[in-house]
Amino acid sequence: TRPVLIAPSILSADFGKLADEIRAIDAAGADWIHCDVMDGHFVPNITFGAPVIRAVRGASKKIFDAHLMIAPADPYLADFAAAGADIITVHAEAGPHLDRSLQAIRALGKKAGVSLNPSTSESVLEYCLDRIDLILLMSVNPGFGGQSFIPSAIEKIRRVKALVGSRPIDIEVDGGVTPETAPEVVMAGANVLVAGSAVFKGGSEQSYAANIAAIRNA
Ligand code: DX5
Ligand code: ZN
Repeated sequence: TRPVLIAPSILSADFGKLADEIRAIDAAGADWIHCDVMDGHFVPNITFGAPVIRAVRGASKKIFDAHLMIAPADPYLADFAAAGADIITVHAEAGPHLDRSLQAIRALGKKAGVSLNPSTSESVLEYCLDRIDLILLMSVNPGFGGQSFIPSAIEKIRRVKALVGSRPIDIEVDGGVTPETAPEVVMAGANVLVAGSAVFKGGSEQSYAANIAAIRNA
């Protein structure tokens, strides 16, 4: 089994000093930097786009994990690649041509991710598994940080783990991940944990380090 990675979501960071916040979570032990891109159309909130990712990319050498909650996504994939995203994840619900989006991401030289909302069946993954590097399962309805974990996500993680089999695909879980919910998420088969509010509470590098350690040790 793969080591468990922690991907703090900068959605919960102080956007007024975003580069400093990324330096702080890097020093605090983050494995990946999870960037929640929202368009106010696919989800009921607006965050930031490729220009902001480009502006903060130099703050960490770690993997930038771009979670695109935008529809359509295809016209912007090249912008996120050029901005320095290493993994680009689109939502299966965001367009009718998931297979095409995945091909486009790999053609840009990036790792291709698919995200599923809580109500979306894992069956949509079945015929494009060979084009997928990462599956991002939402355990809240996307749009906001600080929501509670939806319990049915656990069964979906198990089913996705079985579907993936021995393929080299990361299974990432996003929403309501805390030291309390992390153990069952990992036991069900996830190997990347996104956490926003549970990492950024406290507002200092020391608290971020303690928060990341608490999730890792859970
Ligand atoms: C939700 C985002 C998540 C969110 C997680 O739309 O995709 O990444 O920031 O936040 P917490 O960990 O606070 O649930
Ligand atoms: Zn996310």
